[in-house]
Amino acid sequence: MTEELSNHLLGLQLPTDPRWVNIAQMNIEEILVDHAYCEQKAASSCISLIVLFPEKTEMVEMITPVVAEEWNHFERVLEQLKKRGMSFGQARKDEYVIQLQKVVRKGGSRDQQLVERLLMNALIEARSCERFKILSQNIQDQELKNFYYELMVSEAGHYKNFISLAKHYMPDDYVLNRWKEFLIEEAKILKSLEVRGDRMH
Ligand SMILES: [Fe+2]
Ligand SMILES: [Fe+2]
Repeated sequence: MTEELSNHLLGLQLPTDPRWVNIAQMNIEEILVDHAYCEQKAASSCISLIVLFPEKTEMVEMITPVVAEEWNHFERVLEQLKKRGMSFGQARKDEYVIQLQKVVRKGGSRDQQLVERLLMNALIEARSCERFKILSQNIQDQELKNFYYELMVSEAGHYKNFISLAKHYMPDDYVLNRWKEFLIEEAKILKSLEVRGDRMH
């Protein structure tokens, strides 16, 4: 599994800065709060897909159970916070997602619009998967180590769902070309952002 989740296969062009996990570990409350929001956004983004593209049957069928999984992740991060006497605070500005949204192309056919959103979701899953892997390998807290390993596997499954759905709606070549463009833009965004121990991305 670890092999399968290498950056190469996820396609990510830039590995996470090695300093990130050290500072993240010192800010675990901030990381858990930010992570809770990531899971909330993942669930809400899946709901948006279903609301905006109800006629895309295969997508609706594949994504509906993912909403429940993401919501379960959200609940479980809240539990981890509660257990540690930490509280869930206000949402923070998610510069990573704000920048990524600019990569999504407007216009085109409905299938192309859907594919843009599917690839954007796949990308966030891929990067989250990489971050969870780093946390599971480096964090001291055994419970969080296991938790992040489990989530890494789950988000890798979601990444695969989004990519295979994209290929269902547009030809493989189209999807692969667009995916490469997304990966290049994501690497530029990551490079431009400050390494912060209070953000999951
Ligand atoms: Fe999740
Ligand atoms: Fe996910």
